[in-house]
Amino acid sequence: VSRISELIAVDTVRKLIREYGEGLNTDLLILDKDRNVIAGFPVDVQNGELTERPLLLRESMVGYVAMRGAAGGHALDFIAQNLSRIIEMAYEIESLSGEVARNYEELSLLWNISFRLGAGLDVDTICTVLADEMMNLCPAHSVSIFLVSEMPSDRLIPAELSGARRAAPASGKQILLPRVSLGEYANKASMMTLKTDSGLLGYVHEKKESITVCDVSEDDRFEGFPYPVRSLLIVPLIVEDAMIGALVASDKLDGQEFYSTDIKLISGIASACAVSIKKAFLFDDLRGMLFSTAEAFSFAIDAKDPYTYGHSKRVAETSVSIAEAAGFSAEMVNWLKLAALLHDIGKIGTPENILHKTGKLDDAEMCMMKEHPVIGARMIQHIPRLKEISLWIRHHHEKYDGSGYPSGLKGEDIPLVSRIIAISDCFDALTTDRPYRRALSREEAINIMRESEAKHFDPVLFGYFDRIAE
Ligand SMILES: [Fe+2]
Repeated sequence: VSRISELIAVDTVRKLIREYGEGLNTDLLILDKDRNVIAGFPVDVQNGELTERPLLLRESMVGYVAMRGAAGGHALDFIAQNLSRIIEMAYEIESLSGEVARNYEELSLLWNISFRLGAGLDVDTICTVLADEMMNLCPAHSVSIFLVSEMPSDRLIPAELSGARRAAPASGKQILLPRVSLGEYANKASMMTLKTDSGLLGYVHEKKESITVCDVSEDDRFEGFPYPVRSLLIVPLIVEDAMIGALVASDKLDGQEFYSTDIKLISGIASACAVSIKKAFLFDDLRGMLFSTAEAFSFAIDAKDPYTYGHSKRVAETSVSIAEAAGFSAEMVNWLKLAALLHDIGKIGTPENILHKTGKLDDAEMCMMKEHPVIGARMIQHIPRLKEISLWIRHHHEKYDGSGYPSGLKGEDIPLVSRIIAISDCFDALTTDRPYRRALSREEAINIMRESEAKHFDPVLFGYFDRIAE
């Protein structure tokens, strides 16, 4: 600390030295290290005859207390001691309030991060949040988030769920691949591979703790990067004692070293992100399972009718294209895909002689055929979280002019997803062989659909379909 004026409330000191001065019947001065007057009478300190005593802070000299003339040295010793104590206390208060401010900053940052992570993000977004925060806190030439490759989901699932598979030792070494890279070397960093059995990463992996290296050329563990590096910070992403990835940052933009306060803060953010990454992987696994199950169901439906083999999957693909063109969010596209895969699941309840009939269906048969959206919706509606999907399935045969079934809904009363599935369903039906006719070409199908567009389809959604089909 070179400026004691920053540490002491000058008014208090003025008052103090006035009182001391009056007691001693003289004037007192406070000078800083360079002999600039901080408090006291105006004086040419270079030429004046002053008796001085040093003011100390943790045994370092930070200034002087001085008085005119040579008398009263003992009194000045006593004053210097007292002032030194006051400076010491001011310094303690300053450091404590600095620490409180840093802790507050740290907490509010962590709170913000947890808030952002609480939204149930995907792995890439979480990695971007982490890399962004690192860049904000310590702008660096490069910041990358690496994750263990082929993230074996069973390693992340609690032991009681994955049973014996988890007990098996992880075979061989782990490779870390970059998931997100920021900074001027992002391109080069995004092509890097790191191993966890040697070098700096090996150390971090074994110790499960962050490290900083001030100069990699002096560290034997450094195995080379495809871009220029001098100082490095590596923070492991740990979940349940396993390293699932690492944050790697090189060279702060201001040329300074990575400080321990930086590391503490980044490590806190990294642990919050690591837990969210684990959750996101688990969620991906569950979603994957849900989709495989839905696909298996859709094959089961299509298998009942050789003519419609692969129909549900194709309808799902076309519906996804329309939804993406219409700007649906990724999450919404996923739910729509699920609904499209399952849209004809109610046909499980339709007799095969009706499904396979080559001639025209009689009224009773048509009635049974038209029940499949309702049966399908009923099958799905009891599954938690699929209630809305059951509604989309129920209405996939509605027509825009209200002439469809089962409810004769019109226009925008028909759920949006059902309106999309209706377009893809019609296109796939026209372009595949049916018991009663050969498949039409894509052009013929689109022309027929254009003719009936106004009656059957949502014009805006059909516009997206038409552009995709083109
Ligand atoms: Fe259908």
